[in-house]
Amino acid sequence: MRPRTFLLLGAVALLLGAASCREAISEKPPVHLQRNMATQQKYKPQSESRWFEDGSTMRTPVEHTVARGELRADDALYRGKTADGQFVDSPVAFTPGVLARGRERYDIFCLPCHGALGNGRGPVMTKYTTYSIPPVSYFDPRILQAKDGYLFEVISNGIRNMAAYKAQIPVADRWSIVGHVRELQKAQLPDSLRGYILPQTAAAK
Ligand code: HEC
Repeated sequence: MRPRTFLLLGAVALLLGAASCREAISEKPPVHLQRNMATQQKYKPQSESRWFEDGSTMRTPVEHTVARGELRADDALYRGKTADGQFVDSPVAFTPGVLARGRERYDIFCLPCHGALGNGRGPVMTKYTTYSIPPVSYFDPRILQAKDGYLFEVISNGIRNMAAYKAQIPVADRWSIVGHVRELQKAQLPDSLRGYILPQTAAAK
């Protein structure tokens, strides 16, 4: 046999060998020549534990403990309400920086449904509507008169047909969006109505 034919046959044999390995399922753990951290013993979420009496790996936090950075004692900031449930004026000052951020976040999270102007005619509602109940316009007297805290609450927990956004939008960004909604309202409201209809703080700014 000529050396070239020999090589060729060898290569074909190797390829066939490799191909036969495909989809061969083995019960045995893979061979790790270098045992690195990927193969260490560890508990995986939801797995069983033989160490703890209740057999669960994931432990419930000890009662009355609060994880670091999770203490959300400031009701106004985290819930938009006082401890006795009254909606508050924004605890975050609507500085130009905050408002710029709010506009950006609004355009991402709210504009698709509520529209750039806040009239509730966003592209989702006008072009591909699946909502039988369109959002109310931000110029509805009820929304114009609502406290900042109420808007924060709607963003956080949703309302009727609108989903909650607290998972996607961090607290500070939610307040900045409230600021932007107030800007939209102020920009389109005649001067004569501002102090009358908007909450005092928003009208004054
Ligand atoms: C997927 C579409 C959608 C998105 C995105 C959305 N909304 Fe809504 N929103 C709605 C709908 C629909 C309603 C009306 C709900 C109802 O009355 O059943 C609503 C209602 C509201 C209301 C009026 C609440 C009331 O008292 O009637 C406010 C304020 C509001 N949204 C603010 C926001 C803000 C701020 C954002 C961005 C963080 C946002 N929404 C994102 C669909 C949306």
